[in-house]
Amino acid sequence: CAEDRRNQYELYKETADWLLAHTTQRPKIAIICGSGLGALADTLHNKTVFPYEEIPYFPQSTVPGHAGRLVFGDLSGKPCVCMQGRFHVYEGYAISTVTFPIRVFFLLGVEILIVTNAAGGLNQHFQVGDIMFIRDHINMLGFAGQNPLRGPNDKRFGVRFPCMSDAYDRDLFSLAKESAQELGYLEFIQEGVYCMLAGPSYETIAESRMLQVLGADAVGMSTVPEVIIARHCGLRVFGISLITNKVVMNYDSQERANHEEVLHTSRIRAAALQKLVTCFVGKTGNN
Ligand code: 6GU
Repeated sequence: CAEDRRNQYELYKETADWLLAHTTQRPKIAIICGSGLGALADTLHNKTVFPYEEIPYFPQSTVPGHAGRLVFGDLSGKPCVCMQGRFHVYEGYAISTVTFPIRVFFLLGVEILIVTNAAGGLNQHFQVGDIMFIRDHINMLGFAGQNPLRGPNDKRFGVRFPCMSDAYDRDLFSLAKESAQELGYLEFIQEGVYCMLAGPSYETIAESRMLQVLGADAVGMSTVPEVIIARHCGLRVFGISLITNKVVMNYDSQERANHEEVLHTSRIRAAALQKLVTCFVGKTGNN
C-alpha cells in the first residue's frame, strides 16, 4: 500500500514531477503552516492550489475542517510553497508519511524550509502569545527508535549519519531576529528548545517537569520529523513555535491544557506571525 511504499525514491520523484508539470512556479522556500496558522498561505500572490487528494501519492488529511492543500505562490516577491495542513504522528501516519512532502519539496528545488507550530510553554519566562524562534530540538521519539531516517539510507537524499548540531540555521535565525526588530515584535519574541512528543494526549505534570529539567522550553506534537528529513537532504531550516498555552507544572493549578485555548491563541497571533514570516522571507536569498 502507499503507506509502505511512500519511502521509495520513485514515489517522491513522481509526485515532484507531477507538480512541476502542473505549475510553472519554482519555489525556493517551503512553509509548513501549523495549527491555526494556515491563513498565511492565503496571503500568497499568484496562487496555484493543489488539494492533497489531487496530488499523486500525497497523504490525505484526516482532521475534518482542516484544509489539506499545497499552495504555490509569491510571498514578498519570492516563490514559495505552503503546506496548509500537515500530517501528525498522532493521527496514525507512519513517520515516512508525515515527512513525505519534505523530500518532494527537495526534488522541486526548495532550499529553505520554514516550519511553524503551536506549542505549550515550559519555560517559566514565556507568556501565552509569545513567538519562540526554535534554536534546537529534542527528538523524544528518536529516543525510542522512531527516527524518520530509520531503515535503509538513500544516498540521493543524504548521508547515513547526518549532523544535527546545526539543524536550525543560524543565519536564518539572525534574519528572523532582524525582521522581528523591524516590526517592533521583540517584546513577544523568545528563543528556545522545542521538544516533540507523539501526542495526542497532553503531558502529565510529572512529564512536563521532566521535559523542563531536560532543557526543553516548549513542547508540541509535530515538526521534528520534518526537520530531520529536511536537514538530511540539505535544506536550511527556520522554525517558529507559537506559545499557545502554559504547560501545567504543579498539582494545585486549576488550568487544563485544551485544544480550544491553542486555537484561540493562534487566532490572536496569526496576523503578527504572518507579517513576521512575510518580512523574513523578503530577507532570504541574499546570504
Ligand atoms: Cl501543552 N503539549 C503538547 N504536547 N502540544 C501542545 C501543547 C502542549 N500546546 C500546544 N501544543
